[in-house]
Amino acid sequence: MMGRIVNSVLTTVTVFLVLLSVSVWTVEGKTRHYNFHIQLKNVSRLCHTKPIVTVNGQFPGPTIYAREGDTVLINVTNRVTYNLSIHWHGIRQLRTGWADGPAYITQCPIQNGQSYTYNFTITGQRGTLFWHAHILWLRATVYGALVILPKPSVPYPFPKPNKEITLILGEWWNADVEAVINAALKSGGAPNVSDTHTINGKPGPLGTFTCPIKDTFVLPVEQSKTYLLRIINAALNDELFFDVASHHLTVVEVDAVYTKPFDTKSVVIAPGQTTNVLLHANKNPGRYFMAARPFMDAPVPVDNRTATAILQYTNAPNSSFSSNMIVMPQIPAPNDTAFATNFSNSIRSLNSAQYPAKVPQTVDRNLLFTVGLALDSCATCVSGSRASAAINNVSFVMPTIALLQAHFQNITGVFTKDFPDNPPTPFNYTGTPPKNLFTSKGTRLTRLSYNSKVQLILQDTSVLTVDNHPIHLHGFNFFIVGSGLGNYNPNKDPANFNLVDPPERNTVGVPTGGWTAIRFTADNPGVWFMHCHLEVHTTWGLKMAFVVENGKGPNQSILPPPKDLPKC
Ligand code: C2O
Repeated sequence: MMGRIVNSVLTTVTVFLVLLSVSVWTVEGKTRHYNFHIQLKNVSRLCHTKPIVTVNGQFPGPTIYAREGDTVLINVTNRVTYNLSIHWHGIRQLRTGWADGPAYITQCPIQNGQSYTYNFTITGQRGTLFWHAHILWLRATVYGALVILPKPSVPYPFPKPNKEITLILGEWWNADVEAVINAALKSGGAPNVSDTHTINGKPGPLGTFTCPIKDTFVLPVEQSKTYLLRIINAALNDELFFDVASHHLTVVEVDAVYTKPFDTKSVVIAPGQTTNVLLHANKNPGRYFMAARPFMDAPVPVDNRTATAILQYTNAPNSSFSSNMIVMPQIPAPNDTAFATNFSNSIRSLNSAQYPAKVPQTVDRNLLFTVGLALDSCATCVSGSRASAAINNVSFVMPTIALLQAHFQNITGVFTKDFPDNPPTPFNYTGTPPKNLFTSKGTRLTRLSYNSKVQLILQDTSVLTVDNHPIHLHGFNFFIVGSGLGNYNPNKDPANFNLVDPPERNTVGVPTGGWTAIRFTADNPGVWFMHCHLEVHTTWGLKMAFVVENGKGPNQSILPPPKDLPKC
């Protein structure tokens, strides 16, 4: 009798709690709807016109605006002949891996004439992210900003800017990008570098004054006002310096995580990264160049052209309107490693009571992954060899059905869970390269148990050549607890780790010939891609995936796939 009463009281309490959580859930945020039509559009840049793949005919594509807590529904309809998928870069996708977007990892691509609705809720994130195509090299033109505002009436932890501006940096090829990468794969060599960098899709007048002025992005500013610049590096292959002539920039956020504010002359930003800065329009009224140019400290060919845009004071005198009167910034030298190192070491999580840095203080799983370039033999290639890239010497082979589906439905034979925790044969990673440059091939994943605390050392190698690798992890933010040049030393380096306020990001530039240590909590069940965000390295195989098991609790399993999930 007593038991029955207790039971029914418990049931009532449970029902009440469920209702409460449902109502909390529904008042949590708004639902925002977007329609993306993937379509061809003729676009001219550098006096060249070509059809490019776009969203809604826009280049760059439309900006997605949402608030923390909102649910975003984006219906994507594919009207081009390429199969395509879209990735919401940096969105955590808690339990909604089906909406993450990397083709053949979390979904089959959307085929011509088909559509798919990406459906996700933005939980615990606010700031600047971006979206891009996640198949082949289509993200060269299919990209746009994703701006997450704080919840209503929650202020920024920095002075409120008068205006917010999105600056999305990209790369432009006069040739068809798919033709560029296909030619490279055939020959075995590196693909042609881009023809220019762009700011909001435009290269700017530097060196291209013969092209129409519509090739330049102009930002009008009012004297003494403050601007929040949301800078995004959507370039395929180039890490960039970003500068505004005569103006200092105050960094306040990276990868949609607030930082302790710091002043800098230039921003260093790798593909896949975002940086919010405050700019005070407090200089002589005039016209100033904003500029983006590569940072490249490895012996690797790069597009060294400078993209420019113009910061134009609304009260600038007419005399400043001739092009040679525009002030050019002093951009650091392309190989200024010291500047780049100092910049990344200046980034610290805000780590306030409201925005704590939840750095794992202990480690359940220790991983050491080498990331680097290599050469494989190739009978049909010009030089008898083909550029390749690998993690722990495994050059990743893309599956033909989506890994997440195979995991969810227990389909065997698609992947194995035996990705090596450590390099198969340890060597002097950044010293004289070993004789055997060949990589092994496989669709191998690392299994992580739910909520395990992972420490991952990313170690660059000199096998073919050292290079900077911006490594991006889907489904998580991680803390960059340490980094250095040369080989990681497990006996010495951990003593210097920052476990208090390290930067929290989704993409980290592993230094050229160096290493980076990251930590994260595997609290998001699903299959999560990790790869170099230099598209050429991804193509060559510098990618792998984690499979995070479900937890035992009620909200610790991946949700079932949506009905309209594309089929392969
Ligand atoms: Cu921004 Cu897997 O990518």
